[in-house]
Order: sequence, then C-alpha cells, then structure tokens
Amino acid sequence: MIFGKKDHLVGLDIGSSFIKVAELKVTGKGLVLHKFGMAPIAPGTIVEGRVVDMESLANDIRILFKSQKIREKNVAISTGGHSVVIKTITASTNLEKELHDTIYSEAEQYIPYDIDDVNIDYQVLGESEFSPDQINVLLVAVKKDLVAEYIDLIRLAGLNPQIIDVDTFALQNTYEIIPYEAREKTTLLIDVGASKTSLNVLKANSSLMMRDNVSGTNQILEEIVSQFDVTIDEAQEAVNGEADDIVSQDKIREISLKLAQSWSSEICEVVNTYQTGANDEKVEKIILSGGGVFIEGFKDYLLSELDADVSIMNPFEAFIVDEKKFPDSFITKAAPLAPIAIGLALRRVDDK
Ligand SMILES: Nc1ncnc2c1ncn2[C@@H]1O[C@H](COP(=O)(O)OP(=O)(O)OP(=O)(O)O)[C@@H](O)[C@H]1O
Ligand SMILES: [Mg+2]
Repeated sequence: MIFGKKDHLVGLDIGSSFIKVAELKVTGKGLVLHKFGMAPIAPGTIVEGRVVDMESLANDIRILFKSQKIREKNVAISTGGHSVVIKTITASTNLEKELHDTIYSEAEQYIPYDIDDVNIDYQVLGESEFSPDQINVLLVAVKKDLVAEYIDLIRLAGLNPQIIDVDTFALQNTYEIIPYEAREKTTLLIDVGASKTSLNVLKANSSLMMRDNVSGTNQILEEIVSQFDVTIDEAQEAVNGEADDIVSQDKIREISLKLAQSWSSEICEVVNTYQTGANDEKVEKIILSGGGVFIEGFKDYLLSELDADVSIMNPFEAFIVDEKKFPDSFITKAAPLAPIAIGLALRRVDDK
C-alpha cells in the first residue's frame, strides 16, 4: 500500500455523537499515525443517520480539521445504519455483464426502497456453500438522498468527498491491518456506537455475515430522559457526572448494566441464528469497538453468553505512534473509537 501525495485521503468518521478524523503516512519504517482527533457533536445534530443541522455539523468538522492542523482536503467518509442495506445474495453466473444485469433485475426484492432511489454496488465473495454452480455476492444499496446529503455536508465544510464507504467495511479494513493472530478462527467484530451497532462475522478476512441494528449508548440517555423527565442535554450532564443531584451515579450504573445485558442478548440471538445456519462455524473470537466498550458489564455479559475470546480493538497497534504527539492516556481512550476513521484513512482516491 503506497500513498502517493495525490491519492492520499483523510478518514472522517461522522458518528452521531463524536466525529473522528485520521490521517496516515507510509514511511520506510511502516505506517505512521500522522493525525488523529475527535470532537463531540451536539445531541440531535444527526438523527437516525440523517443530518438535521447541516450548518452546525459542517462547522464542527471545520473546527476539528483546524484544531488538528489538517490541510488535506480530500476525505473518505462512510455511512451505515438505517439507509444502508447490505445483503449476501446468490447468483448463478460470474460473467460480469450478466451478473450486473441479474443484480439490477433482482435487487428490488432485497431492498426495502424504490430501486431508483438507491445507489447499488456489489462484490463477488466466492462460491456458494450450497452449490458449486452458484456464487455469493455482497450487495450494498445506499439511499441516493443520503449520499447527496453527506456530499453537501462535506462540501459545506470546505472539503472534497472522494470516497463514500460503509462503516462496517471501514471497520473490516482496519481489522485487516492489525497484527492479529488466528485469523482463520471465526471472528465477530462488534461496533456499538451512540445510535447503532454493526456486526460482522469474519473468517480469514472474508465476511460471512453483516448486520446493523439500532442499539447504542444513546439508549442510556433516552432511558434517563424517560425515567427522570429531564432533557437530553441534562441526561448527558448526568452521565458525565455533572448532575448528581438529579440522577445518581448508582441509578445510571443500573440503567447501563441493564442495557449492556440487553445488547448482549440481542447479539447472542444474531450469532445463534447465524450458527444454526448453513455454515455452523462457532464464533471463537469477538473484537469490540465503539463507545459501547466503555459501558460497564458489556464485555462480561458477552463473555458469559457467547463463550468466546472477547477483546477490545486497538487500531493504533498497526501504527508507529509518536508518544509525544499521542500520549498513552489519549491512545487508551481513543483506541476503541478510532477504527472507522482509520479504516477510511487507509482508502485511496482510486479505490472503488
Ligand atoms: N470514556 C468513555 N466513557 C464512557 N462512555 C464513553 C466514553 N467514550 C465514549 N463513550 C460513549 O460512547 C459514545 C460514542 O461512541 P462512538 O464514538 O462509537 O459513537 P458514534 O460513532 O458517534 O455513534 P454512531 O456510530 O452510532 O453514529 C458516547 O456517546 C458515549 O456514550
Ligand atoms: Mg460510530
């Protein structure tokens, strides 16, 4: 992987609670973490994956680039959750022209939107496990208006959107460069963000199943709002430990634990459905990322439900990191939140 000056990109992960930006450099000694930064965005700026407050978000992005002294304007961003459909389908040909026609004529049955309203992309995964005459194809459909919205946002921030990726793919991209052992073991990547959870079952760097659901750390805020009749901003203050008079830390802990347990059960259900399916490969490793990793009990619940080796992703392990620029205390806090921005920064302008 060589980043020429021309084709290198800044990875920008626009999460619904934190935006993250990463810029990498390739040197003779290896990959270097050049820039990385995060900034919170106001609750309600992004709702269900849609940008509600364009001006304020563009401004947050501009400030983040400025504070990190990032001059590069070409960025890779990603989308996920509600408006993105990812499905593995089977087709009986791998001739490019025929495959293209088959996918476009059959896509409608897999996508809950009008076919004219989505951008479709696909990638051949390999031979079907059921029949050697068939191939598995990964179908990705993203709503056109969502893509247009994010392009507008990036331009409003004074940047050039070069690649629009999918969160789950960017996460997998990062997984692939981390020096993990035992990649042949069936591995589940779980990213629990503020408003969505992405699941990806992998074996030897190939995805076997991808799924997004709407669980996330925002549910803690929503629960506080409904139990204590406070605003979402007050709930956030309570979580930050700045409003103990309204909501005690014990109560927040109780709410968080309950949620962590329900996320684990949900994930366990998906895994069980997958395991009783055709492949029957037991998930042996789980790698967690996203703000959900900080929620007490989550890792333990997963361990007790899934009997797999559970760890937290640290994408910085794949890089040469200057401790003066990025102290250990920062790296520990940022590591679980960084993988998608890093995966995007690994893209090049000429990537598909
Ligand atoms: N150090 C921490 N302690 C506790 N909770 C944290 C910590 N850091 C992050 N979080 C939680 O994680 C959330 C952010 O996680 P993340 O950055 O993965 O979400 P996001 O990418 O913005 O959301 P999404 O991908 O769902 O749109 C915060 O809203 C907060 O609830
Ligand atoms: Mg996220």
